[in-house]
Amino acid sequence: MSFKALFTLTVLAASAFAAPSQKVTCSGGRTTSDASCCVWFDVLDDIQENLFDGAECGEEVHESLRLTFHDAIGFSPKLSRQGKFGGGGADGSLMAHTEIEAAFNANNGIDDIVEVQRPFAIKHKVSFGDFIQFAGAVGVSNCAGGPRLEFLAGRSNHSIASPDLLVPEPSDSVDAILARMGDAGFSPDEIVDLLASHSVAASDHIDESIPGTPFDSTPSAFDAQFFLEVLLKGTLAPGNGTHTGQALSPIPGEIRIQSDFLLARDSRTACRWQSFIANERLMVSRFEKAMSKLATLGQVRSRLTDCSDVIPVPQGRLTKPVTIPAGRSMADVEAACAATPFPALSADPGPVTTVPPV
Ligand SMILES: *[C@@H]1O[C@H](CO)[C@@H](O)[C@H](O)[C@H]1NC(C)=O
Ligand SMILES: *[C@@H]1O[C@H](CO)[C@@H](O)[C@H](O)[C@H]1NC(C)=O
Repeated sequence: MSFKALFTLTVLAASAFAAPSQKVTCSGGRTTSDASCCVWFDVLDDIQENLFDGAECGEEVHESLRLTFHDAIGFSPKLSRQGKFGGGGADGSLMAHTEIEAAFNANNGIDDIVEVQRPFAIKHKVSFGDFIQFAGAVGVSNCAGGPRLEFLAGRSNHSIASPDLLVPEPSDSVDAILARMGDAGFSPDEIVDLLASHSVAASDHIDESIPGTPFDSTPSAFDAQFFLEVLLKGTLAPGNGTHTGQALSPIPGEIRIQSDFLLARDSRTACRWQSFIANERLMVSRFEKAMSKLATLGQVRSRLTDCSDVIPVPQGRLTKPVTIPAGRSMADVEAACAATPFPALSADPGPVTTVPPV
């Protein structure tokens, strides 16, 4: 084929993809790119009101975002290569086979949000795999500074329970986490990108005496405080001791998990970790990219329909850059990236910050 013919073909192909998108108007008057996406507006209205308490960024959002990961990461090409079932990825298996998967150690407490979400999926006749990713994307759009995640619909409602031991645990070593996440297709950088989710997170079960203890001082804001606060010297246990998978915390009312402590300080992940502290926009865009990969693990992207335009544009804005919590100083930062100086941050004035439970 001549160069000219090839060029013509390329242009044709490009213009086919760039065809002006026909907007479809759904029954409620809102528009989307594909008629099959209309159902998601109904789901959106329902969950914003009845799952997220009026579009809040609270406990249900934290748990819904956690669920996107715990469902999707049940995906192991390594097991498949050994001739075993490696899990179906983002397939809703955690909601369809809760009696099996919720019993896995790493899924401790996940049944709470699964049981709350399932009736919404059944009511709207959408697949469990789609619903889990949709709820996570809508939920995190409610958080100040939040990302606008891609949402592709069309996952099969059929799934097989994931094998155990595919969800990383707070007590895992960095080697173990890098190997497990690498098996699922994530680089060390992308693991850190996904961990931006811990910016809007709390734990109920690491220390059972203090349910709802946040991972950073701003659990309703999708900011980079988390990446700073994990690097502050740990001095205290916020509850009744340090439990499996837990590291010492820098401020009262905040919990730190061991794997975050280690990833923040490991030479393979420390520079990516530090890079977000002075660049929250970069953090958000990297998170969006990594989540697009997570949400389609085990799926064929070309067979899904892009319904991203149903996901709300996040309205809440971050009101200030990352700061050192009151009572702590730059001297408490355990900077671990050898290549780049740690950014200069100001400290909040006043008595030592104490984080209230969520
Ligand atoms: C998906 O499967 C579950 C059973 O695992 C069922 O209860 C639900 O109604 C199914 N949803 C759809 C849309 O088929
Ligand atoms: C901490 O509290 C939890 C529940 O409140 C209890 O089950 C556990 O035994 C306590 N642990 C310690 C070390 O006191």
